[in-house]
Amino acid sequence: MKFPSVSFAKHNNNLFIRVLMIMLLSCATIRVDFCFSSIPSSLKALPLEGNFSFNENEFAARDYGNQYHFLPLAVLHPKSVSDIAITIKHIWQMGPLSRLTVAARGHGHSTRGQALADQGIVINMESLREQKMQFNTGRFPYVDVSASELWIKILHESLKHGLAPKSWTDYLHLTVGGTLSNAGISGQAFRHGPQISNVHELEVVTGKGEVVNCSDKKNADLFQSVLGGLGQFGIITKARISLEPAPKMVKWVRVLYSDFSTFARDQEFLISSKKTFDYIEGLVIINRTDVLNNWRSSFSPQDPDQASKFISDGRTLYCLELTKNFNPDKVDTVNQEIESLLSKLSYIPSTLFMSEVSYIEFLDRVHTSELKLRSKGLWDVPHPWLNLLIPRSKIKAFSQGVFGNILKDTNSSPVLIYPVNKSKWDNRTSFVLPEEDIFYLVAFLFHAIPSSSGTDGLEHILTLNKRILEFCEVAHLGVKQYLAHYTTQEQWQVHFGQRWEVFVQRKLAYDPLAILAPGQRIFQKGISIL
Ligand SMILES: Cc1cc2nc3c(=O)[nH]c(=O)nc-3n(C[C@H](O)[C@H](O)[C@H](O)COP(=O)(O)OP(=O)(O)OC[C@H]3O[C@@H](n4cnc5c(N)ncnc54)[C@H](O)[C@@H]3O)c2cc1C
Ligand SMILES: *[C@@H]1O[C@H](CO)[C@@H](O)[C@H](O)[C@H]1NC(C)=O
Ligand SMILES: *[C@@H]1O[C@H](CO)[C@@H](O)[C@H](O)[C@H]1NC(C)=O
Ligand SMILES: *[C@@H]1O[C@H](CO)[C@@H](O)[C@H](O)[C@H]1NC(C)=O
Ligand SMILES: *[C@@H]1O[C@H](CO)[C@@H](O)[C@H](O)[C@H]1NC(C)=O
Ligand SMILES: *[C@@H]1O[C@H](CO)[C@@H](O)[C@H](O)[C@H]1NC(C)=O
Repeated sequence: MKFPSVSFAKHNNNLFIRVLMIMLLSCATIRVDFCFSSIPSSLKALPLEGNFSFNENEFAARDYGNQYHFLPLAVLHPKSVSDIAITIKHIWQMGPLSRLTVAARGHGHSTRGQALADQGIVINMESLREQKMQFNTGRFPYVDVSASELWIKILHESLKHGLAPKSWTDYLHLTVGGTLSNAGISGQAFRHGPQISNVHELEVVTGKGEVVNCSDKKNADLFQSVLGGLGQFGIITKARISLEPAPKMVKWVRVLYSDFSTFARDQEFLISSKKTFDYIEGLVIINRTDVLNNWRSSFSPQDPDQASKFISDGRTLYCLELTKNFNPDKVDTVNQEIESLLSKLSYIPSTLFMSEVSYIEFLDRVHTSELKLRSKGLWDVPHPWLNLLIPRSKIKAFSQGVFGNILKDTNSSPVLIYPVNKSKWDNRTSFVLPEEDIFYLVAFLFHAIPSSSGTDGLEHILTLNKRILEFCEVAHLGVKQYLAHYTTQEQWQVHFGQRWEVFVQRKLAYDPLAILAPGQRIFQKGISIL
């Protein structure tokens, strides 16, 4: 397999360079020769409970995206938060002349090498299991977890207390630290905001090796920095996550539209209604002749006779996907509520499909697909994903330009689309929002067939992504990338826009040597500047 060559971000930010110079001059006390002694032996000498591995680190050289490959010098398997702090402090004390960087690796489900550290240290967060989950079941319930915990495990444990987190991702085999470093967006975000809006407190190891607790009230700037902070300001080691009473069951609804405007109007109506569904997403389906047949294994058509006559042909269709939570003793009420809401929508009547599953089965739905894909050898393949945030006023132009146009079929990969209301997002975090109150998440979750040169090949999909981005650019759609990938600092600067200066200030405050998360390629460790 060929890996794209990587050009690191150029450093032309004057402020950044100036402060680094000052830093370096004031570092006279750091022994420079320290930097040139054998790094592995200096790491081995650290007083850790866990250990470093210098061999068989292949797992830490790649990620879910399967397009980038960078071998670290060492992998730290921490047994405690203090192991992480000692390691980072050690590298901090080496000063800017050492090239050594550190990347936390959550579950390695990034798609563009964001959790890799070329010849640096990867911290295998999953070794960190020092903290048992601690539940507070009071009026405003929450749980304290290790940031290395997978969301699926938090769900299992919370359910034992009749509780569950409020805001999710579509797939739960991701770590708390990994999703909080991005945002964590799914079909609950219209109501609860993303996962970064549902966390009360964090414990963070900064780029200087300091362990700091932070929240909205204490060290608020660090707290806001780290949320959506792409791993740039510290390593999240613990998190306090807001919970709510968990429902037992969900009603799961899918309906189809052939007209984009009608689909989007209904989605926006639902996310702004007071009494509404608990989860609202959507899918774009292009030229999938058998779409309804595929659903039949898990969903029942409301009108089997009509549904069997529905033909999708080569058309572009939009699927609205909804769920409503309920407990079995309230099944009549929930049915009435759903009926009332559906009566206000304008989907194609014969395409109403429903299903009823446990809450956990619904939330863990992508894992079911994972098992199927794994059995066909289609999970560990390249994932050239593209995630975009699009202002509401531009979503129609986007859909016209892209669906059925640039993108001619969605045969094997899901394309998600749904709106969220910005009022549930905190604009002080590091997360970059598009302008406008309402914006859409559009997720092209492509997978490539290795060695295919056809439309499902990597080259073809990368070209497709490029064309979509170029279209957005030329049409001035004001689009922001989510889980963004750029190769130069100029591009990151454009991405952050007015927020860039704050981002740089925060970097200088919490990771001034640019030790952390080098795989994001926003900053490069000091040495090249000098
Ligand atoms: C199948 C699938 C479905 C997905 N669905 C959604 C979705 O519905 N919504 C959504 O928002 N996202 C979704 N994602 C994206 C996912 O949220 C990100 O890829 C996330 O980074 C994955 O978590 P991870 O634990 O694997 O992180 P990693 O890939 O290991 O790390 C991500 C980044 O965060 C840094 N990092 C990791 N842990 C920490 C930590 N403790 N402290 C500081 N920095 C850290 C890493 O260095 C890296 O830069 C999905 C991904 C997959 C593979
Ligand atoms: C290092 O730590 C890992 C994870 O805790 C453990 O499996 C392994 O046995 C340890 N190796 C050594 C040499 O101690
Ligand atoms: C952070 O808070 C946790 C629990 O609230 C506590 O155990 C820990 O000692 C605190 N750490 C620091 C550095 O204050
Ligand atoms: C978004 O949410 C805010 C606050 O709840 C509300 O005032 C506003 O009307 C919402 N916008 C839309 C378009 O629904
Ligand atoms: C739809 O897909 C089929 C193959 O599955 C292909 O032959 C046909 O050309 C496609 N139609 C359009 C409109 O792209
Ligand atoms: C965040 O939003 C508030 C209210 O809309 C606004 O007053 C403030 O200036 C914004 N802050 C930032 C950093 O954008």
